[in-house]
Amino acid sequence: MGGSSAEGPRVGVVTGATSGIGREVARGLAARGWRTVVVGRGPGRAAAVAAEIARETGSSGVESIAVTDLALRAEVRTLAAALRERYPRIPLLVHNAGGVFARRQTTSEGLERTFALNVLTPFLLTDLLADALRAGAPARVVMVSSAAHQGAHVPWDDLQSAHGYSGFRVYGRSKLELILLTRELADRFRGSGVTVNAVHPGFVASGFAQNNRGGLAAAVRVFGFLGGRSPRSGAEPILRLATEPSLASVTGEYFARDRPRPGSEASRDRAASGRLLAAVAELAARGTAT
Ligand SMILES: NC(=O)c1ccc[n+]([C@@H]2O[C@H](COP(=O)([O-])OP(=O)(O)OC[C@H]3O[C@@H](n4cnc5c(N)ncnc54)[C@H](OP(=O)(O)O)[C@@H]3O)[C@@H](O)[C@H]2O)c1
Repeated sequence: MGGSSAEGPRVGVVTGATSGIGREVARGLAARGWRTVVVGRGPGRAAAVAAEIARETGSSGVESIAVTDLALRAEVRTLAAALRERYPRIPLLVHNAGGVFARRQTTSEGLERTFALNVLTPFLLTDLLADALRAGAPARVVMVSSAAHQGAHVPWDDLQSAHGYSGFRVYGRSKLELILLTRELADRFRGSGVTVNAVHPGFVASGFAQNNRGGLAAAVRVFGFLGGRSPRSGAEPILRLATEPSLASVTGEYFARDRPRPGSEASRDRAASGRLLAAVAELAARGTAT
């Protein structure tokens, strides 16, 4: 999918674009001529990174939107409203923001943080931008998932991981749930010119897990040092899924780096995907009351 159309540069929105893989996805889009929207947290950071990317790529079409915490439904709603107002047509939405939390945390809205950030937010933002995506068709939604979904199962009686919390297990679960939602959202958009796919970017030495203290952060740092790819290399499979013309009609798939893969058996359980979508949609809607 090219970065421009008859109406001018096409809009690509990237969450978590201030660092790591997301920054390189944003840079790659800008370099390919996309009007690129850096969504990032922290006062001034999104604007600063957008300016850096503009300098690096020579693009005049790098814009930014600041958020405080994308784990909050209220914040997702504010972001969606700002995006809809600025961009009535959104041909590309990359859900890259995500994280792992060594200790269980709940958001101020009462949801477990990994689930809120990695699962509910991509669903809710896609849902709130559905009209802009349809208007931007041919459009693509890319979910940044992970091979860590392998071996995970949906804990139906404990979606908020209140019992026996383990950071990496809950992370793997969240990335499984994201693939399940990818398959459901792809069905919802089928026939509209909007595709939805998930991708594992490879093991990348980034800031991933460094928000934690102690063992988890140290282990990820050491593994990253020993065998991690660069964020720029990790961005490539995402950019490919976002822009490669031959993938225009591929939807509902999981890619491990450049290749379509079946994903785990649990990720192909369509009864589970439907049940999960209903549960997540219900939690997303509840957010309006908080
Ligand atoms: N690294 C890997 O090996 C690997 C493998 C498979 C999948 N992934 C996935 O790839 C994606 C990018 O990860 P990364 O490796 O680039 O890690 P990273 O360097 O930690 O980047 C994560 C990005 O998400 C943003 N973010 C985190 N929590 C947020 C929140 N509450 N609100 C708004 N933004 C938030 C971060 O913002 P700040 O810049 O403010 O920190 C950062 O831009 C994640 O979804 C991750 O699960 C990574």
